[in-house]
Amino acid sequence: MTTRKRVAVLISGRGSNMKSLIEAARSEDYPAEIVLVLSNNPDAEGLSFARQEGIAVAAVNHRDYKGDREGFERAVQVVLEEHDVELVALAGFMRLLTPYLVGEWKDRMINIHPALLPSFKGLGTHERALEEGVKLHGATVHYVVPEMDDGPIICQGAVPVLDTDTPDTLAARVLSVEHQIYPRALALVASGKARIKAHKVSTPADDADLGECSLIVPR
Ligand code: GAR
Repeated sequence: MTTRKRVAVLISGRGSNMKSLIEAARSEDYPAEIVLVLSNNPDAEGLSFARQEGIAVAAVNHRDYKGDREGFERAVQVVLEEHDVELVALAGFMRLLTPYLVGEWKDRMINIHPALLPSFKGLGTHERALEEGVKLHGATVHYVVPEMDDGPIICQGAVPVLDTDTPDTLAARVLSVEHQIYPRALALVASGKARIKAHKVSTPADDADLGECSLIVPR
């Protein structure tokens, strides 16, 4: 196969999505390799897993850059460049980005959000989904643009919302679909099969791969 894209995964905490990407990338025919896991939180749980896997890890503590978001991002950018990163995957990276970093990675940075965008941008998505009484909820992988939780949608996974759900039970169901769609989305982007056209993502006509990116989990 052609060379695999060098990917950095950015995390802030647990890193279960990062883990799903690392596990997918173990397969030699996966079109991306995870070359760096970077966190804004030096104590992020996910860093130890990545370290055990033999992946380079880095922490750029945002607290060292109080009031200077761009300064923080410039420090992150230095580390990304040191590792010759080609694509960035945000996986539970809980920092709002400025136009600086988003601009550096235009069409080369993706994010996972725990809701079916464009519904429920921002935080507390599971609580709000329950409050609104939606019957389907889920997760979205999208390209990152300057507007928060916006940008061309690559993959979505939908799960049922049950009458008995609490935010925690719903979050767990959504998380399990996140772990399925994120590796698929990264593969599409890394292989060049996902194309952005007029703010939408499509694949070449003879390629059905993007079909795998609308996942519906039955009740
Ligand atoms: C995931 O549910 C992810 O979608 C969400 O944080 C969680 C991180 O879990 N991301 C956001 O809310 C981004 N705004 P993980 O660290 O176990 O992957």
